[in-house]
Amino acid sequence: MKSQTMVVVGAQWGDEGKGKITDVLASSVDYVVRFHGGNNAGHTVQVGERTYKLHLLPSGIVSRHVTSIIGNGVVIDPRVLLEELEHFIEENWTPKLLISERAHVIMPYHIAMDEALSGHQGNLAAGSTKRGIAPVYADKMYRHGIRMGDLLDADMFREKLEKAYHFNVSMLKEQFHHSFDMSLEKILDVYLEYGKRLETYIYDTEHELSLAHRYGQRILFEGAQGMSLDTDHGMYPYTTSSNNLAGYAEVGSGLGINATKRIVGVVKAYVSRVGESPFLSELLDSTGDFIREKGREYGTTTGRPRRIGWLDLVQVRQAVRTSGLTEIAMTKLDILAGLDEVKICVAYKLDGKFVTEMPANLHVIRKLEPVYTVLTGWNELTEEDKKQIVLNGYEAFPTEMKSFITFVESQVQCPVSIVSFGPERTETFIRER
Ligand code: GDP
Ligand code: IMO
Ligand code: MG
Repeated sequence: MKSQTMVVVGAQWGDEGKGKITDVLASSVDYVVRFHGGNNAGHTVQVGERTYKLHLLPSGIVSRHVTSIIGNGVVIDPRVLLEELEHFIEENWTPKLLISERAHVIMPYHIAMDEALSGHQGNLAAGSTKRGIAPVYADKMYRHGIRMGDLLDADMFREKLEKAYHFNVSMLKEQFHHSFDMSLEKILDVYLEYGKRLETYIYDTEHELSLAHRYGQRILFEGAQGMSLDTDHGMYPYTTSSNNLAGYAEVGSGLGINATKRIVGVVKAYVSRVGESPFLSELLDSTGDFIREKGREYGTTTGRPRRIGWLDLVQVRQAVRTSGLTEIAMTKLDILAGLDEVKICVAYKLDGKFVTEMPANLHVIRKLEPVYTVLTGWNELTEEDKKQIVLNGYEAFPTEMKSFITFVESQVQCPVSIVSFGPERTETFIRER
């Protein structure tokens, strides 16, 4: 389907391969926009021998024709952003990047507060990435947050910082008995310096996008995290602190799109989860270990081993419904190759009754049991198989793999339009329909 706007979102618990799919689709767009989350995200793009690990920069940055936008809904740690940018500037090229002046800034006290909160929340803590995400979004909602534009205006910055600094530091010290040594003056100095270094990128991105859209430019919105981590629709409180459904692309970028969008949900052929929460299809046996090692399932941001489980279609169905997916990009099908059989969770059971939608109540979720359908596994793709895929298309994939895909499509009522069978850009098949 040709469409001027496209949204790529995670349909599971993050790390589905959004970076890779965004990179593949970026060849046909003019803009790539991040619209929520911060450097809790870690998106990997592999092009030939080079691997890029991106936390704040949109994956479009790898494609030089693309203008990358960090939208108002994103939260930015300027230190991390500058480090990431340096990597690209070193290559004698100034990235085509624009940062919304409305995006909120992650401050040092947010990172300290994230640490303190995790201890306080105990067994209700999601196991955060400790990047300051919940506290920065909380300050945004309290309405004493610092925005990127404030870093360019010393007086405005001081006025706002005085409120936010004392609020956070007194909570840290008095409520959490947590040390915090950075003075307000020191923060002012350091962050005004960050502002100077980022000044050329800070911009009215909402206006830029509206003009781009009016003049027919193609825009791709790159989601972070995944549906089960969405604050409203995920497994609260084991979520992140932003909305990541496709609907949020408009809020987090400031571009109202009264037109049909292509909405691509990225679905890994199994599930990984980094952090804490009930995980119904979790594999705690050697099959889980096999998938973790073969799939290199270790966090891109924190390096933590990811928990592994069978594909869960209750989760994917919820993603189809809540984001209005028009299609699915299925990744990591190569990782399941070599298993005699693969399981797919199609529903849950509660007191002998089938449950086909994820309940909101955590007490109920804790009592659910997964119901599986078992399918036959497929063999590894050889180099010859990969050549055949290029020559003969979808038909050249192993029959069992195609049965797996067809089963998912029929169960979730959404077509699989992109098949990914390796981390490299070229290890991707786009299905013509
Ligand atoms: P994201 O957060 O959704 O962008 O995903 P991550 O980058 O955190 O994790 C996905 C990992 O899987 C990365 O290392 C990708 O290079 C890799 N990857 C993506 N698609 C495939 C695939 O189809 N096969 C294999 N083997 N690796 C993939
Ligand atoms: P990408 O974009 C996987 C998880 C954390 C934790 C919870 C809350 O790479 O898919 P936070 O630091 O956001 O307050 O942590 O969310 N989490 C992710 N898990 N991939 C991500 O991003 C994640 N971003 C946050 O592990 O359970
Ligand atoms: Mg990731």
